[in-house]
Amino acid sequence: MSLFLEIDKYTKNDNKINLINIDAIHHNKEYWDEPDKFNPDRWLAEDFEPKKNSFIAFGRGLRICAGRKLAMVELVGLIALLFRKYEIDLVNKEAPLKTYSEAVTACTELLVEIKLRN
Ligand code: HEM
Repeated sequence: MSLFLEIDKYTKNDNKINLINIDAIHHNKEYWDEPDKFNPDRWLAEDFEPKKNSFIAFGRGLRICAGRKLAMVELVGLIALLFRKYEIDLVNKEAPLKTYSEAVTACTELLVEIKLRN
């Protein structure tokens, strides 16, 4: 079997597996303002749309994640259920966020106070 790959002007036919560097794409300053900053609010800006091929957490192309829309609906539903039942506040709003970045950026420690809503 021969693996043939063509991306932009580059072609390869060397039977080696090629991996896309998602981390590099998600931290590329040509695509993202302050790419290394953990800033989920960037998604909330009016009319915000990531540049083409700049956000590939669900993959891309023909094999893109088949469950991506369900995943987003489930995540929104989960957050809504949590906040309907509990009041969730940061313990210290001034504390710097502890994050870890690979393909996606995640919070590694976030102290919160959780109270049952009446
Ligand atoms: C936040 C949640 C999720 C993330 C980040 C995610 C991410 C991914 C990624 C990166 C791929 C590989 C795409 C590629 O090869 O280019 C994939 C494939 C796939 N995902 Fe997800 N996924 C999520 C949730 C789900 C859910 C909830 C389902 C189903 C209920 C699902 C079903 C699939 C399937 C069937 C494939 C294989 C698609 C194919 O190879 O044709 N995923 N996902």
